[in-house]
Amino acid sequence: MTLHNDIERVLFSEQQILSGIDRVAREVTAAYQGRDFTVVSVLKGSCVFASDLIRRIPIPLELAFLAASSYGNNTVSGELEINFFPAGTEIDGRNLLLVDDILDTGRTLYALKRELARRGARDVKTCVFLDKAARRAVPLAPDFRCFEVGDLFVVGYGLDFAGRYRNLPYVGALRKEVFAAAGQP
Ligand code: XMP
Repeated sequence: MTLHNDIERVLFSEQQILSGIDRVAREVTAAYQGRDFTVVSVLKGSCVFASDLIRRIPIPLELAFLAASSYGNNTVSGELEINFFPAGTEIDGRNLLLVDDILDTGRTLYALKRELARRGARDVKTCVFLDKAARRAVPLAPDFRCFEVGDLFVVGYGLDFAGRYRNLPYVGALRKEVFAAAGQP
């Protein structure tokens, strides 16, 4: 048994993913030509995407990571705890490119963007691997995105279900039995 057995269908193959990232890397490169910037990868989901993306951007950049957790019910209200890695990552006056795995309701990136602006970032742009545009609950459109995806739960290429499947090299939909076995509809 391998993780592949749990996948009902592949939505984006490794080849498709890499050509989508090539396109977005060219867009990012053009946007930041001649400007210093920091790529901020939102953990854990975006680490696979971010590492493929930055290797296709041939201009200077810095790399940082953050983990965000909301401690209210509503991240839009900005009740967000942010931990940077490294802890002293410079925000004030920096151009930041927030990189995330998937934009769903948009609440996480919306709140993060607002908080980083409040901390003095000069400019905050967003780059997402997948965009579930139909699910958006806040007014946020990503500045860069690789692919749009419908309203279904997907795993692989950094995305997990119950902590698993991040290491699949493609994006796929899980078999129904996997959700059922985990007690989810
Ligand atoms: P919001 O709603 O704030 O949430 O945009 C974004 C986060 O929700 C998770 N998410 C998913 N994770 N497959 C996943 O593995 C999915 O289909 C999915 N949809 C949303 C993810 O953590 C993302 O960063």
